[in-house]
Amino acid sequence: MYVCICKRITDNQIHEAIGRGARKLEDLSRELGVATGCGQCACFAEDLLGDAPAPSGPNRALCEPVHSDA
Ligand code: FES
Repeated sequence: MYVCICKRITDNQIHEAIGRGARKLEDLSRELGVATGCGQCACFAEDLLGDAPAPSGPNRALCEPVHSDA
């Protein structure tokens, strides 16, 4: 299932990134480009991160679009 339509990223790709060590939305943004477009996928991506055994859970305060204006 697509999570990020803008970057065509699926939940499987996100789970794979989590398996490689992604623990924050910023990790997914850097590795896959998640939430670097319109940002609509940020909350769902955070939810997927919350399912992973991470040292810290999802921070809803970070549930904002991550824009790369560079
Ligand atoms: S749906 Fe992910 S950035 Fe637009």
